[in-house]
Amino acid sequence: NEIKIFSPATVANVACGFDVLGFCLDGIGDEMVIRKTDKKGIHITKIEGFDLPYETELNVAGVSALAMYEAAKPDCGFEIEIYKKIKPGSGIGSSAASAVGSVFGMNALLGRPYNKTELTQFAIKGEALASKCEHADNLAPAIFGGFTLVKSVSPLKILEIPSPEDLYATIIHPQIEIKTSEARAILPKDVPLQNAITQWANFGSLIHGLHTSDYDLIQKSLHDVIVEPYRSQLIPYYKEVKKAVLQNGALGAGISGSGPSIFTLSKGFENAQKVKSAMEKVYSETDIAFEIHMARIN
Ligand code: HSE
Repeated sequence: NEIKIFSPATVANVACGFDVLGFCLDGIGDEMVIRKTDKKGIHITKIEGFDLPYETELNVAGVSALAMYEAAKPDCGFEIEIYKKIKPGSGIGSSAASAVGSVFGMNALLGRPYNKTELTQFAIKGEALASKCEHADNLAPAIFGGFTLVKSVSPLKILEIPSPEDLYATIIHPQIEIKTSEARAILPKDVPLQNAITQWANFGSLIHGLHTSDYDLIQKSLHDVIVEPYRSQLIPYYKEVKKAVLQNGALGAGISGSGPSIFTLSKGFENAQKVKSAMEKVYSETDIAFEIHMARIN
């Protein structure tokens, strides 16, 4: 009657895949407990880690839970406990982890009536509360694992993309907050054709590189000419970090989701650690506090 969930952090966009590509970070994430109750409805009974609303309709995990509850119409209610580890506004899918955890747990307690795509569909409602728009590029990797490509939101179609064996992510999180809704508002509505051509060439090549474990092609494809020029201005020392990690063996680097976290991909654990030291060095010479995460992608 009770289940404990680990709900992973994720990196959305992955340089050239704005709003469609994402990957899951092994071992970094929130914990949640979902409990079946006789009392009907969805009730958030505990939140630890960060100050988030208890009102179901105002809480991301509550809103996605309600979407599923209204569809399933079960003969019971649910209590949700949230042990939040991923800082809201950090750019590694904090709202997505909350949105996914509640529906994943409820589904398990109901005997799994819904598949992963259907769970993502419910979770979109929670994610939309945080980012003011329906996107699934953090939700899909949190539910499916590995790399995912959101082919379309309506109707929702998610593709699982293979991860090469030896691919590691290193992520630095400068301790400032950037709201996804604000980072979206600064983006231009139109894109010059030449930039669009560059972006979809890189995106297609990245997907091919992931399928064929072609690290060289992955390296050549991890560029973003559309979003990064605008959002990177919101992130202190972005250029310096990027330069340092590329000089220290990273395959590529970019803004994680809407920032301020910066992600890098590396081939092998040793390279990922070198990249970690390079990032650390840049920020330790500033007065900005930071956290670094490292994870294999699967
Ligand atoms: N694709 C989204 C964005 C992810 O970059 O705005 C943020 O959660």
